[in-house]
Amino acid sequence: MRIRRTFYFFAFLIFYIFLHRKIFPFYIKVSEDSFNNFEFCPACYGTKFCPQILNNLELATESKIRLFKFLNAKNVYYGQINNAEIVAKKLAHDWELEKMDKKLCDLAEISYIRCNPKDALYFIYRKLNPNEENRDPINMIFKLVSHIETVTDILKCKSKRLLEYGIEKIYGPNVEDLKTDELLELVYTILVNPEPIILQLFPPQEGWPFPRYHGTCGRVLVEEYIGPSLSSVMDADWPTRLQVSYQLLQLAFLFTHNHLNFSLYLTDVSLDNFALSPDGSVFLIDAESLLFADKVQISKDQPAGWREPCISRGEGCHDCLSFSVEDLCSHVTADHNYYAICHSLLIPGGYASDRGLLHDIPPEVEASTELRSLIQECAMPSDPNQSRLPLVPRLLQTMRSLI
Ligand SMILES: Nc1ncnc2c1ncn2[C@@H]1O[C@H](COP(=O)(O)OP(=O)(O)OP(=O)(O)O)[C@@H](O)[C@H]1O
Ligand SMILES: *[C@@H]1O[C@H](CO)[C@@H](O)[C@H](O)[C@H]1NC(C)=O
Ligand SMILES: *[C@@H]1O[C@H](CO)[C@@H](O)[C@H](O)[C@H]1NC(C)=O
Repeated sequence: MRIRRTFYFFAFLIFYIFLHRKIFPFYIKVSEDSFNNFEFCPACYGTKFCPQILNNLELATESKIRLFKFLNAKNVYYGQINNAEIVAKKLAHDWELEKMDKKLCDLAEISYIRCNPKDALYFIYRKLNPNEENRDPINMIFKLVSHIETVTDILKCKSKRLLEYGIEKIYGPNVEDLKTDELLELVYTILVNPEPIILQLFPPQEGWPFPRYHGTCGRVLVEEYIGPSLSSVMDADWPTRLQVSYQLLQLAFLFTHNHLNFSLYLTDVSLDNFALSPDGSVFLIDAESLLFADKVQISKDQPAGWREPCISRGEGCHDCLSFSVEDLCSHVTADHNYYAICHSLLIPGGYASDRGLLHDIPPEVEASTELRSLIQECAMPSDPNQSRLPLVPRLLQTMRSLI
């Protein structure tokens, strides 16, 4: 019996090693079609980075073992490209990607079993643009995105300027020259997860705290690997936690006031959405959940109360981040980002962190500064009609004096 079992075991092993591995390889390759779904483009994020992925990308062993894929529902793969540490992300769970494919196929009235999302997307494009003489890509993008419908935040505050800025930055100065496939890739990315667009518009070389964009191939985005998430800082010493908290507030400040005149409002704040690079800098690694309020547009349209800062009162929300898209999109400024950071991450009992990054303030800091009360005011002002905006410079200055 024993011999027989051993025999079957080795027979299986030999079968697997010599035959099965060819059909069902042990390792995932980012360059394989079944992984990057290149065949679905332009229902994908892009194609420019495919040669690099093919030639230079090496996944880390634990990321490429096919049998472990079930552990990686988030579809985040670690690896290296030309000695740079990277993450390759599919930017959604498999079921989310399938859901969007099904939606595209339904809208194109193609049976899902026989449907390539690529054909469905072309079909929808032609339906909305029958003569294919569209020379206004911006309007076409708005039209397609609202027809197909998305849950992502990037276009929730409707801004033509954001799309114009984006297309110019990614594809060059003549927006009218945008090719159909490029337009459809943008639409697909906006529908599923706008992170590739955001990383290109707000690059770290220009002072933005996002990972460096390497490129996209099919449904894979390759970006700089930053480091461990901020959960790893929770038990760190006081100077480290203070330094990280200071950077988070600086990030909130930059997102609220910047020379591009877009406010980037955080809509999903958690310790895991930020990471710490080896030199101790804080980055936002989940660039998906951001609203873009266009200050230029708002000053032009002048909706009711636009000059007054929009104040976050945390209403109707205990264990969540409360905000009104309509309010954020219609005020030229808002204290939302400070609320989001202070209330979710810095104070104890915040919704994204039980202890809060600024737990256990040392006694000498308590004695010499108002840090505790400033942070508390930032999380929830004692006067609910008072915006946090004037408080933040004081808070930043106090923190800077301690670093
Ligand atoms: N650039 C990066 N550097 C380091 N780690 C990263 C990076 N991007 C993603 N990760 C890791 O992968 C995890 C998931 O990534 P990401 O937040 O983009 O996925 P997600 O599906 O949007 O997650 P969630 O829905 O929980 O916000 C992160 O929490 C982080 O641990
Ligand atoms: C942003 O707004 C300021 C002040 O209104 C203005 O001087 C600047 O030119 C604007 N920049 C852009 C890129 O719109
Ligand atoms: C805040 O403002 C509202 C309306 O402007 C007013 O009714 C309310 O009394 C104010 N609350 C406080 C605490 O000042």
